[in-house]
Amino acid sequence: MLVDKYPKEIDRILAKFPPERKRAAALPLLYLAQREYGHVSKEAIREVAGILDVDPTQVGGLVGFYSLLHAKPGGKYRLQVCTDLPCALRGAEEFAEELCDNLRIKMGETTEDGLITVEEVKCLAGCDKAPMFQLQAPDGIHYFENQDLDSAMELIEELRQRGDDA
Ligand code: FES
Repeated sequence: MLVDKYPKEIDRILAKFPPERKRAAALPLLYLAQREYGHVSKEAIREVAGILDVDPTQVGGLVGFYSLLHAKPGGKYRLQVCTDLPCALRGAEEFAEELCDNLRIKMGETTEDGLITVEEVKCLAGCDKAPMFQLQAPDGIHYFENQDLDSAMELIEELRQRGDDA
C-alpha cells in the first residue's frame, strides 16, 4: 500500500494543497502510484481515492485523460505517436501503422521482448514537425520530430542495444 510505503512523500504532496482543495493532489499521487506499480491499476486508483477521501471514479477519469498516466502495463519504453488531425494531415497515421507493422504489433500493444509499447496520443505541440512522437523512457520523456520509419526503427534498435543500462 502506498500509505504504508510512502507516508512522508504522501504528506509532502498533500501539504502543497489547502485541505479544501485536497483533490488537486490526485495527479501527483497517481504519478507516485505509477512509479511504484509501473502503471495505474484499478487498485491503485482506489488507493489514491482513499487517500483523498473521494469516489474512485473521480480519480479514474484522470488516468484516461493524461497520456503520461497508464492504465495498463506496457513495455520499458512507451513510444507515443501523435495522430491528431494536424499530424494526420502530415502522414502520422500511416507512419504509426507502418511502425506497428514493422514491430509486428497492433496499436497499443507491446513488442514480444517487452521493450516498446506503441500508443496513439493527442497533440504534443509539434504539429508542424509530424510525424512526431514522445518516448517515455525510464530516464524521462524525449521528443522526436520529422520522423519516418527508418529513423524510428534506428532509434528502437539503439534502445535495444542499450539493454538494461538505460
Ligand atoms: S496535432 Fe500532433 S503535435 Fe499537434
